[in-house]
Amino acid sequence: MNILLIGSGGREHALAWKLSRSPKCEKLFCAPGNAGIAQNATCVSLNVEDHQAVLDFITDHQIDFVVIGPEAPLVDGLADTIRGAGTPCFGPSKLAAQLEGSKGFMKDLCAKYNIPTAAYGRFTDPAAAKKFVQQNGTPIVVKADGLAAGKGVLICENEADAFGAIDDMLSGNKFGEAGHEVVIEEFLDGEELSYFALSDGKIALPFSAAQDHKRAFDGDKGPNTGGMGAYSPPPLLTPALEEKILQQIITPTIAGMTTEGCPFAGVLYAGLMIKDGAPKLIEYNARFGDPECQVLMMRLNSDLVDILHAAATGKLGAFVNNINWHDMAALTVVMAANGYPNSYEKNTEIKNLEIAELAGDIKIFHAGTKMDGDKLVNSGGRVLNVTAIAQDIASAQEKAYESCSKIDWPDGFYRKDIGWRAVK
Ligand code: AMP
Ligand code: GLY
Repeated sequence: MNILLIGSGGREHALAWKLSRSPKCEKLFCAPGNAGIAQNATCVSLNVEDHQAVLDFITDHQIDFVVIGPEAPLVDGLADTIRGAGTPCFGPSKLAAQLEGSKGFMKDLCAKYNIPTAAYGRFTDPAAAKKFVQQNGTPIVVKADGLAAGKGVLICENEADAFGAIDDMLSGNKFGEAGHEVVIEEFLDGEELSYFALSDGKIALPFSAAQDHKRAFDGDKGPNTGGMGAYSPPPLLTPALEEKILQQIITPTIAGMTTEGCPFAGVLYAGLMIKDGAPKLIEYNARFGDPECQVLMMRLNSDLVDILHAAATGKLGAFVNNINWHDMAALTVVMAANGYPNSYEKNTEIKNLEIAELAGDIKIFHAGTKMDGDKLVNSGGRVLNVTAIAQDIASAQEKAYESCSKIDWPDGFYRKDIGWRAVK
């Protein structure tokens, strides 16, 4: 198969690496890709908002299968366009991607199908939203309804902060269209877990889990980020907990989406809060997590082309109890540009990756890199994902940090405690 992968982050590098190792993969293209992805795929500049340009590329390069990495093109309906033109595509339809694209849609689905989640209200009127905050008390969580690049969730410790967030979104246009409606919800306490299930629109198949670290600094302190590191499998996920997640959350969601007329085919990423062994859904994403995908791909032993193609073509039934994982643990450390998640410099030089990646159990995925002549430089905030596989999380952690210490990048930083809960 000739395959086109859409995206440019560490998640897409991990997908490209794994897809390219499949004997089914003939030519792999990635739009737009990055300097690391270029080791596994031919990177092409293609404006994915221009659906006709994507269709033309598919025809010109005899593409047999498309894999969409990030949420924005999914919410924009790119998968529908590609499938409509007759090419199989991994990624949910525009309607199904509302699970991530509209928090209000996701919460209403939970309410209708009894899926455990935080109590909530949906608002477009600031006065009504503030009244809800007064009635429910703080801490309380204010969320922009639409996509806001991970910045649209505000955990408010007091009423003044909550009112400020409401005014910023509903009156101040802070997140544009995405913030013209807000979801306000109960603050959930507990430990977070990223759970993944594949679906072909008919059945849901467990696809392992991970834990990530969202805060920028050691000790889970500092501002929220896209994720500073992850590990898998998470010790938190016992078989009993997984059974509850499947029964109470994943299965009714997949069935409910079909009943609602928008069957979900792709990867369903449930962001969960676990307390006293009980899961509650925080949010859904319609794509793989980043950096969670990097540790999943490191552990996956089965052929990724086969699995994603089966999900895209209604044939996941063949993989029931038939997805193989290495009996090992993986851990990834995110190296980010100094200043991230706030402003940071671009085009700073990164050296010594060849030395850092020498061992076979280390893989450095690129998240935000590009070549500047023969120099490797950063082009984003999250830049490298130093990923290790070993017999347990403690050993994977040790290996990943040994590799990080060899990378010469004075303009970057990384957390020193990724996996602390699991290693403790
Ligand atoms: P998101 O940017 O949508 O991935 O959400 C950001 C983070 O906000 C989540 O990973 C949680 O850590 C936190 N969060 C969102 N909703 C809640 C909630 N209801 N209670 C507690 N924490 C939450
Ligand atoms: N690592 C969190 C996310 O991908 O949303």
